Amino acid sequence: MCGIVGYTGLGLLEGGADGTPAATRHPLEVTLEGLRRLEYRGYDSAGVALAGPGQDHIAFAKKSGKLSNLVGELEEHPLPAATAAIGHTRWATHGGPTDTNAHPHLAADGKLAVIHNGIIENFAQLKAELVDAGVTFRSETDTEVAAQLLAQQYAQTKNLTEAMAVTARRLEGTFTLLAVHADDPLTVVGARHDSPLVVGLGEGENFLGSDVAAFIAFTKEALELGQDQIVTITPTSVAVSDFQGNPADAKRFTVDWDAAAAEKSGFDSFMDKEIHDQPHAVADTLLGRTDLDGRLTLDEIHIDEAVLRAVDKIIVIACGTAAYAGHVAKYAIEHWCRIPVEVELSHEFRYRDPIVNEKTLVVAVSQSGETMDTLMAVRHAREQGAKVLSIVNTRGSTIPRESDAVLYTHAGPEIAVASTKAFLSQITAAYLLGLYLAQLRGNKFPDEIAALLNELRDLPAKVQTVIERGEYVRATARSMKDATSVLFLGRHVGYPVALEGALKLKELAYIHAEGFAAGELKHGPIALIDEGQPVFVVVPSPQARHGLHSKVVSNIQEIRARGARTLVIAEDGDDEVRKYADEIFWIPKAPSLLQPLLAVVPLQIFAMALATAKGLDVDQPRNLAKSVTVE
Ligand code: F6R
Repeated sequence: MCGIVGYTGLGLLEGGADGTPAATRHPLEVTLEGLRRLEYRGYDSAGVALAGPGQDHIAFAKKSGKLSNLVGELEEHPLPAATAAIGHTRWATHGGPTDTNAHPHLAADGKLAVIHNGIIENFAQLKAELVDAGVTFRSETDTEVAAQLLAQQYAQTKNLTEAMAVTARRLEGTFTLLAVHADDPLTVVGARHDSPLVVGLGEGENFLGSDVAAFIAFTKEALELGQDQIVTITPTSVAVSDFQGNPADAKRFTVDWDAAAAEKSGFDSFMDKEIHDQPHAVADTLLGRTDLDGRLTLDEIHIDEAVLRAVDKIIVIACGTAAYAGHVAKYAIEHWCRIPVEVELSHEFRYRDPIVNEKTLVVAVSQSGETMDTLMAVRHAREQGAKVLSIVNTRGSTIPRESDAVLYTHAGPEIAVASTKAFLSQITAAYLLGLYLAQLRGNKFPDEIAALLNELRDLPAKVQTVIERGEYVRATARSMKDATSVLFLGRHVGYPVALEGALKLKELAYIHAEGFAAGELKHGPIALIDEGQPVFVVVPSPQARHGLHSKVVSNIQEIRARGARTLVIAEDGDDEVRKYADEIFWIPKAPSLLQPLLAVVPLQIFAMALATAKGLDVDQPRNLAKSVTVE
């Protein structure tokens, strides 16, 4: 939530006064490019602040609404050239999405500007203190408190880094703060506490960003900052310290995404592109995970094998789509490893006094690696003595750093707010974990594991087939653009798929949608069925165990008899179900446990196409933001 960009470069100084290579980029352009790539984190308003030599004030612009409004404003009222810049794209918390509440916030003398991601919980108390000291506030935001406090400290120290450290020590809540000062136009200072910030390393220029997407167009070299650190960048230096001012370490890494991966590449939306990325996301997540003998080697898992062998319970913690991925994985891991698996929403886990000890393996699933609810649950689990393994997509993010081990999904950047390829890659990674545990604990023979891995490796081509069949789904969605309610049913692994299908439709098309376990229908939800009510049904393979297929076919008949319009996702060649389907979306044959990776794809395409037919922005649905860094 909220995207933050910082940049300092020697471009304006024509060659660099000290002989260092000069960056030729304009700070404003770099910042706007970074904001464009971070806009998925929030799009209630956007703003920039610039510092340049010879300018005794910060130049700034801010505008409510999407980034394009700010760009329009800058075209009408250009800002002077600069050497340092900060930029912000906002997801509103304190104070509505107005021009005034947009960031940056400036100190009364106009010489210092601050942007912020997070929530300052003690802002009321600090504000009262500042008002008593004669400070006048212009906005309703908690951020302005940080700006005024920083200005007060700067007035005493004349050193932005020191002033930031004192300010950070006084703030409670969560924050990433970036600041520039007119007196020091080559410097940007940042601070982070429970909110993301990464450094991009350049030559004659340096960058700051909420995540690497902010600077991926310019550099792949990055520094991962730790908790409670201050960073000061100039074009030629990066200094990291703790909130007490002591020098601190930050971990260097190279970003393995390229800038093109964060572009639409000719698709109408990022979501459409990311749906098409899914075969790669699955294949790349599987890549390089076995040794020459075909044994799974998850090298990243630095948890003692003896500890993993002793695990007697797994708890998956996650939110939203990531939680549904965990829900799918539960069926597979329990089946393969015979370890009980609970799946819990991160925000519920933490507050229910869960029974967790050193024999519990907590698996935290998160695309962004920054979801605050999940991060808090990770901390809680570790405090209780559990080992935490995270399944995360974003390098340099906080959750992996605070986990005992991490298994990265290799889905590439997911820019659309609604998650698609992350879901498939999270299931894939969780399945690898399940098979690894089964191998380690001897629950499965090596040839059984090899066979399951081969079935997983067949999946990308099958996902591709489902995507290629997407036009029929799109046409059906277009014909249903006036629908006001859609239900989704599934059993076994099809149940979390139904939940995910409903979530996609809610968040993209703003339609009432609910997912149910098909067996639960007769316990209440069947009362919702009326003439013409559209109901998606995820049908298990006819080969599925325990007669699952025929039970779901009976459920279809029950709702059809009550007037439902049935939209059925079924395996190629399932003739039995054809009779009861008003519309049928075929998916290739796959083992039951792998079917979710295929069955969810038509549901993603459906939600996207219906939202598009309604004229909605599928990449940036209303009220939402990617990377939910507040609780
Ligand atoms: C839905 C969606 C969200 C996220 C959830 C967790 O399309 O994207 O439900 O899945 O906010 O986010 P991460 O995976 O970043 O922890």
